[in-house]
Amino acid sequence: MSQKARVIQGSAVLAAVLALADAACSGPGTMTSNTAGQGAHRISVLAVGMFAIAAFVFLVVISFLAYGLFRRRRESDDGKPILNDGGGTRMVLFGGVAFPIVVLIVLFVITLVALEAQARDDTGTHVFTVDVIAHRWWWEFQYPTQGIDTANELHIPTGQPVLMQVTSDDVIHSFWVPKLQRKVDAIPGRTNDVTLEATADGTYLGECSEFCGLQHAHMQFHVIAESADAFNSWVADQQRTPPAQPTGLVLAGQQVFLGSSCVYCHSVSGTTATGTVGPNLTHVASRTTLAAGTIPNTPQELAAWIANPQSIKPGTEMPASDLTPTQLRELVAYLESLS
Ligand code: CUA
Repeated sequence: MSQKARVIQGSAVLAAVLALADAACSGPGTMTSNTAGQGAHRISVLAVGMFAIAAFVFLVVISFLAYGLFRRRRESDDGKPILNDGGGTRMVLFGGVAFPIVVLIVLFVITLVALEAQARDDTGTHVFTVDVIAHRWWWEFQYPTQGIDTANELHIPTGQPVLMQVTSDDVIHSFWVPKLQRKVDAIPGRTNDVTLEATADGTYLGECSEFCGLQHAHMQFHVIAESADAFNSWVADQQRTPPAQPTGLVLAGQQVFLGSSCVYCHSVSGTTATGTVGPNLTHVASRTTLAAGTIPNTPQELAAWIANPQSIKPGTEMPASDLTPTQLRELVAYLESLS
């Protein structure tokens, strides 16, 4: 291969690596760019700082290696190599002992400062608390102050610290919103605290970041950070109880729902459905996705989900239903009315 071809090939490989690195660091599931929360910003600064220091050390080491490889060996007058004139010892003491000690101390101190600031965040004041309960494979969000129980969509007011009290109903999961905050483990029988505070309005992707079984990758949620007014109106909507006596197709669907096994696992406030195994459906139509971010929340997808959940999310605890097409249509109409 000619010199020119080699340069071109090398450049192409470098460009591909840089493109991959950029794609890996700029998506919704990373915390190294466009962060919108104090905690994530702090970790991003720490990560970039550590990378810069590591890159500097790497360059210094490679420079010395190149110098050692390519320098001409010095010889004394009689043609023998000069093995040690004292300069080598000084270099080893500085480069091999003093320099690494300084670098490690700097890394240790900036990590301690970040950890301390993080601990202060999580024990500081907050406007209210959300109980986060991880399930295989979805997220339950209970707002005890507001009396709300919802799933897979977490609303918070922008610029206000909200305390998440994270636990699990079954196995170990991990609650993570990369753009906002560090990860926190969801452990059965234990509660771990972490504060979410968004610095800008937006919808932020959250995900389970601890392998928890077959559908670990389908255990997403969204954090919607919005103005105090928008948040308060969402709270008011969620607190509403759906009409006890709907009409037409919706009434037929309500009867299908209350007469089926749905009620053993799901709740709809104001009805006899009080199951707590699956997500609370009181305002299911207000959510944008179904099955923890697996499919969009449209009537067609909802019908397909109810008819055969295992085909969409194999392993989910939701069983297939044996409803007739008419019953399914009525049930979807009822669920769509729960906004
Ligand atoms: Cu839950 Cu992974």
